[in-house]
Amino acid sequence: MTTQVANNVTVEIAEALKSVLADQFVLYTKARNYHWNVTGGHFFRLHELFEKLYDELADDIDEVAERIRALGAYAPGAMSEFLKLSNITETENYYPEADEMVNTFTNDYELVTNRILENAARIQDEYKDEVTAGLLYGLAQKYQKNIWMLKSLINN
Ligand SMILES: [Fe+2]
Repeated sequence: MTTQVANNVTVEIAEALKSVLADQFVLYTKARNYHWNVTGGHFFRLHELFEKLYDELADDIDEVAERIRALGAYAPGAMSEFLKLSNITETENYYPEADEMVNTFTNDYELVTNRILENAARIQDEYKDEVTAGLLYGLAQKYQKNIWMLKSLINN
């Protein structure tokens, strides 16, 4: 297993991680939004679920940001940077029904997971950075499990 990565590629790996970090941060904020604003018959279940998801994302954000630092780059930490780097869209002053929240969150998770998997494969194949790829594959495994749970909720 390769753990030593040449300096010239660490910059490119860190850039890829910045986009993942931004997606996670926007999704984290959306989980908070939905935790606060969900309504309906499944309020308690969804209120608690979104809390569990943002707590998990908070830990994941830290892992990715600190991996960026370990690679020698600065981690973006401004909301304006996250919004520029992220593919996740936000809606202002809009509070959908619970089902739509779950659907939107599932779709966003899929976007983030696909981006993570694409980056993990590239980082493993092109840059031979098994440690960063391993971190990303671990995140993808966790998010795929969350996607399954969210989809199971929708089908109830
Ligand atoms: Fe709360």
